[in-house]
Amino acid sequence: MSTRQQVLELLKNTSGFLSGQEIADKIYVTRAAVWKAIKALEKDGYQIDAVTNKGYRLKADIQKMSGESIAMYLSENGIGDELAVHYFENLDSTNDYAKEFSKTGIEAVFVAESQNKGKGRKGRDYYSPKGTGIYMSLLLYPDVEPKKATMYTCMMADCVCEAIKEVANMETSIKWVNDIYLNEKKIAGILTEGMTSFEEGKMSYMVIGVGINVYAPFDGFPEGIAKTAGYLLNDTKGESVDIRNRLCASIITHFYKKYKANDKSFIDGYRNKSMLIGKYVKLLTAGHDEKKTSKGYALVTGIDNECHLQIKYDDGSTDSLSCGEVSVVKY
Ligand code: BTN
Repeated sequence: MSTRQQVLELLKNTSGFLSGQEIADKIYVTRAAVWKAIKALEKDGYQIDAVTNKGYRLKADIQKMSGESIAMYLSENGIGDELAVHYFENLDSTNDYAKEFSKTGIEAVFVAESQNKGKGRKGRDYYSPKGTGIYMSLLLYPDVEPKKATMYTCMMADCVCEAIKEVANMETSIKWVNDIYLNEKKIAGILTEGMTSFEEGKMSYMVIGVGINVYAPFDGFPEGIAKTAGYLLNDTKGESVDIRNRLCASIITHFYKKYKANDKSFIDGYRNKSMLIGKYVKLLTAGHDEKKTSKGYALVTGIDNECHLQIKYDDGSTDSLSCGEVSVVKY
C-alpha cells in the first residue's frame, strides 16, 4: 500500500482529528511524507479538514470515485497487488481505453467518473454523467475460445448483483443476458468486447465494461431512457458515503476471484436471479425461428449451464438462445 493509501485508510477509519505526527507514527513515515500524502489526496478530490493543533480529518460527505479508495478496498479484499486500478476524471469510454491498453498484456481495471461516449450493447450510447454512476472496465486475457466469452458476461452479471447485496443490502435481478434490474427498472448493464486470435482460436484479450446508475443523475435521465432506467439509491449523503468506491471494489473482487479460480458456481446464482424464467418474452433479435410462433413470443423455461436461454414456442417446439435480446410481454 502506498503512503497515500495508508493515510486515506487511517482517516477513513477515524471519526475525529489525527495529528500529522500521530499518522506518521502509525504508518512509520516522516511528517513530511504525511503532508505530501494529504496534498495528493486533496488533489485527488478528497476534502480534508486541516486544523492547527488538531490535525487532519476527512470530511464525511465525500462522494468522489477515487482510484486510491478502490485500490485500498481491493487490498483489504486481498487482490490489491494483482490488479492495478487506473482512474480518470473523464474518458470517452473505459472499454475503449482498456482495449488500447491491451497492447501491454497487463491485467487492469479502468474507472472513470464520467464518459463522453459511453457505449452500450448493439451500438447504443450509454449515458454516463459524473457524480452518480460507476463506469468501469476490466481488462483480462482469458485462455478460452471466443464463444465462451458470454459466460464471463454472465459471471459479471451475477457478481454485480452479489456486490450490490454485499454493499447496499439490496436484491437485484438479471435480465438475460446482461442487464441488472431493480423494481422493473434497468439499473446496470454490461458490455463485453474482445479480440480473437484466429491462429490460436482463442481470445487475445477481453474487456468487460460495467455501467451502474448508483444514484439518479443530477439532471435526470435523457428522454429516450427516462421510462426504463432506474437507480440503486436515493441518498447521496450519510450512510452511502464512499459507496461507489466500495461497490466498484466489491464487484472486481467477486469477479476476479471467480475468474481466477475458474469457479462455475455463479451459474446457479445467475439462474436464481433471472427475471425471465416462467415469463413470456418477445424475441427482438436474430437467432430464433419466427415461423414457429404466430406472435413472435416464447415462454422462457430455463437457463442452461452454458447460460443459454431455454425457450418454448407456441407449437411446443423448443430452442436454446446463446445470445440476443428479449423483452418481457404480458401474454
Ligand atoms: C448496456 O447496457 O447496453 C451495456 C452498458 C455498458 C456500459 C459500460 S460503462 C463502462 C464501459 N465503458 C463503456 O463505454 N461501456 C461500458
